[in-house]
Amino acid sequence: MKRKLGLICAAAIAVGTFAGPVFANDSFDGAIKARKALMTLYAFNLGQLGAMAKGEVEYNADQAQAAANNLKDLAAVNLGAAWPQGSDSTALPGKTRAKVEAWSNYPESAKIHGDLVAASTAMAASAGNGVDGIRKNIGAIGATCTACHKAFREPQ
Ligand code: HEC
Repeated sequence: MKRKLGLICAAAIAVGTFAGPVFANDSFDGAIKARKALMTLYAFNLGQLGAMAKGEVEYNADQAQAAANNLKDLAAVNLGAAWPQGSDSTALPGKTRAKVEAWSNYPESAKIHGDLVAASTAMAASAGNGVDGIRKNIGAIGATCTACHKAFREPQ
């Protein structure tokens, strides 16, 4: 009986050793998927505004306002839970492009995110008033995307 228990314990430890890292990777999958989804929604809405700004798509006040409101609301979403410690590209190469610097230099990434909130708020205040309202604000939004990707996203 005593020996059997010992075997069970040894088996549990062995499983634990192997299950540990696998479980950690899997448990990050949902978080990584969620933050990429938020980024995809940023890009989709910004893309609509960009197409109108460039004249590729005819300006439509309702659509412009909707895209701008979406971007502002998306930027305000608190998705901190989708950025767990250890879910960076050094720990999980191939699964994510988020550099470890996004955590080690968190204040800088938070500052850039704050700039996106401000720029998308300004966009939402003017996107419905004509294409010039989009043109005047889109550069500031794009600059925040670029700044964050340069500092905190692995190149493809
Ligand atoms: C606070 C930093 C930050 C800001 C601001 C930011 N991004 Fe990102 N973005 C990232 C990081 C980090 C990744 C990599 C995420 C990953 O692979 O886990 C990323 C990934 C992406 C991706 C790829 C998503 C995928 O499916 O792999 C797109 C598209 C994107 N961002 C678009 C945008 C757009 C458009 C904006 C501006 C409106 C923006 N991002 C603003 C940090 C940021």
